[in-house]
Amino acid sequence: MKDIVPTPPPIVRNDYESIRELFAKNVVPSYGRFDLALSHGAGSHVFDVAGKRYLDLGSGIAVCCLGHAHPAITEALVEQSKKLIHVSNLYFTEPQGRLAAEIVKRIGAGKCFFANSGAEANEGLYKLARKFGHDEGRFEILTATNSFHGRTLAGIAATGQEKVKKGFEPATPGFRHIPFNDLEAARNAISPATVAILIEGVQGEGGVTPATPEYLLGLRQLCDEKKLLLLMDGVQCGHYRTGKFQSFQRILENVPGGEKFLPDALSMAKSLGGGFPIGAFWVRAPFADLLGPGTHATTFGGTPLACAVALKIFEVIESEKLDENARKLGEWLKRELERLVKTYPGVVKNARGLGFMLGLELAEKIPAFATSDKSAAIQMTNRLQQAGVLVIPAGTQVIRLLPSLNLKPQEAGEGISKIEEVIKSLA
Ligand SMILES: Cc1ncc(COP(=O)(O)O)c(C=O)c1O
Repeated sequence: MKDIVPTPPPIVRNDYESIRELFAKNVVPSYGRFDLALSHGAGSHVFDVAGKRYLDLGSGIAVCCLGHAHPAITEALVEQSKKLIHVSNLYFTEPQGRLAAEIVKRIGAGKCFFANSGAEANEGLYKLARKFGHDEGRFEILTATNSFHGRTLAGIAATGQEKVKKGFEPATPGFRHIPFNDLEAARNAISPATVAILIEGVQGEGGVTPATPEYLLGLRQLCDEKKLLLLMDGVQCGHYRTGKFQSFQRILENVPGGEKFLPDALSMAKSLGGGFPIGAFWVRAPFADLLGPGTHATTFGGTPLACAVALKIFEVIESEKLDENARKLGEWLKRELERLVKTYPGVVKNARGLGFMLGLELAEKIPAFATSDKSAAIQMTNRLQQAGVLVIPAGTQVIRLLPSLNLKPQEAGEGISKIEEVIKSLA
């Protein structure tokens, strides 16, 4: 792995209050933000406007797969922007075709559609499913409890969490939730209107819960038997985060029959562009032409600029073997988190996940958290920020570690010792 960390520029201003003021006056307050204004970053570190350095173990919620200010991304942006930033999808462009081929090569025979975000990539899956079932009057998609699929109207209908739906009723019709990792429940939930089942390979927002191999193989069989599409959301757990390109490839490695498994379609976004917005879905060959000319489109889908960045990211991940890094260093991180669970059972109760998608579940009653009405996950995230580490809360009880794929062993060590310091102070 190359040392890509440039020296950050000196800090000249601490304008936190004025930034907050700008937001208070001008930005829709739809996000619960932390009291932190970030200014710049390098590798796995970011700096706030006062110059304080943080180890970024959240990487923009699994987005900055090459860390911050990676020179290869800068170069791809600069070089492609000198040639062509955007043209309409009324025309062909080479980067989009090449990126589709790179994705197909890594999953299996099929085709890709490009979008701008995870929610939009998933919208493509819903439309694909509806088109598939249209002539038979089938339209219903089963999704999992605790899943997360994005914030568009169909996205919140697909998401198996009440909190994202509240206040936006009536819900977009055609979605029903089933318990995750429960094959019998899936079988029992199928109605004459059902057309597809959609799951995350590893539930992210829901608290870092991997699908079991039996569930994946069982769903495949069930979908074949009932003529349903098996759809997977790889927006957060994809792009080598688990140590393989897609989470199902990691979950099913060395599992008998696993080598033949493929979903019918799979969405991706986040790390695909390393911070430059791009989403996509891949669809298996037999269904790849269902969305014919005029049926689906988006202005910014697969621009030459976005695709050039995504192509460069594939190149760096491959040449620097960052998949192996996510797997090996991820295993080390998980072992360390498990050690913390054993050492401080009053504070942390479970460590789980794969590769660089790890969740640390907090104990129910941490005395130091009792006086605040904020969730344990938020309070822990706050304390870690004070100690100089950024993590991402998931639900009320879990914090997520989703570091850049090029996190270094020494940085992983720095993260664990700071996390331990905070946990120890709460024990
Ligand atoms: C699994 C999953 N699907 C979809 C989305 C939505 O992606 P976006 O925020 O890019 O719309 C997310 C975002 O966190 C996600 O984790």
